[in-house]
Amino acid sequence: MGAWPSLKNRIVEALQSADGDFVSGEALAERFGVSRAAVWKAVSQLKAEGFPIVSAHRRGYRLAEDFDPLVDADGGIGARTEALGQAVRYFPTVDSTQNAAKVWLAEGAPHGAVVLAEQQTAGRGRMGRTWLSPPGRGIWMSVILTDGLTLTDVHALSLLGGLAVAEALTRFGYDPALKWPNDVLLDGKKAAGVLIEGQGELDRLHHAIVGIGVNVKAHADDFPAELRKTATALAEHGAPPRRLLLVRAILEALEAELAVYRTDGFSRLRARWMARAAFLERTIAVRTAERNLSGRFVGLTERGMLVLRTDEGIVEVASGEVLLT
Ligand code: BTN
Repeated sequence: MGAWPSLKNRIVEALQSADGDFVSGEALAERFGVSRAAVWKAVSQLKAEGFPIVSAHRRGYRLAEDFDPLVDADGGIGARTEALGQAVRYFPTVDSTQNAAKVWLAEGAPHGAVVLAEQQTAGRGRMGRTWLSPPGRGIWMSVILTDGLTLTDVHALSLLGGLAVAEALTRFGYDPALKWPNDVLLDGKKAAGVLIEGQGELDRLHHAIVGIGVNVKAHADDFPAELRKTATALAEHGAPPRRLLLVRAILEALEAELAVYRTDGFSRLRARWMARAAFLERTIAVRTAERNLSGRFVGLTERGMLVLRTDEGIVEVASGEVLLT
């Protein structure tokens, strides 16, 4: 939790620690030194935002039974990792976990620190897009890396993020595909995405923030009409695991991949990525900052660049967006 948690955040946390019992508005008001009207207003806003809060006359409020928090009772993740997820900041609601990670970095976040939120009010996707992050229905997570990376690692990191999510999902019976650079697809629709933000010089990256968003239980009407054809959630492909278990599995997979990457670079992970590659040997269009390309997707380079066979010959693309033609 950040230094100045909002009343809404404190209310959700209080309801979580009540473990399914009702907590009265009066008790909440007293605990947080605010009026009952302020509690009522904050709870109404949380409900309007989609938090599954049940109210009962004279008893107060509790979280719905099917709400599975992203952290365990002591606020941790319980991942079997050395660094990733060993320090956690958890927000019931936040603008973007990427922003919260930046704040934490300025305060000295350790390598591997993780920010999790039940809801983001200003979640960011790649290419300046908005990332919808309804409460309790996804994993909205940022992983802070401060150890020995360079700017050239940024592209590989985004591939590793997607691979970690895909490999974690297979542990729960899903069969994901990877769309370069970092979309995770289920039956051809996007279930998860990765956003890398970093800062540093060419030879040293001061930090990278790996933002991971997984739609776990998002409903069709969580997505705007134009996204419904291309976006999906795990729940549409089989009963999802508890989100905390998936967070653990993602962090364990990512840490193991980073260890391989540190010693061998992307090359030893390439085969694992390619085994899940979507659109391989298909003609795709790629939109980059400079131009639009079209060609056959024939593989990835040792550094994770996309290799296209175009009419003008082989072209390697470092960053861009893939579209099916
Ligand atoms: C994409 O466009 O595919 C990347 C989506 C990344 C979304 C995640 S959710 C957690 C983190 N916080 C954000 O604001 N964005 C990333």
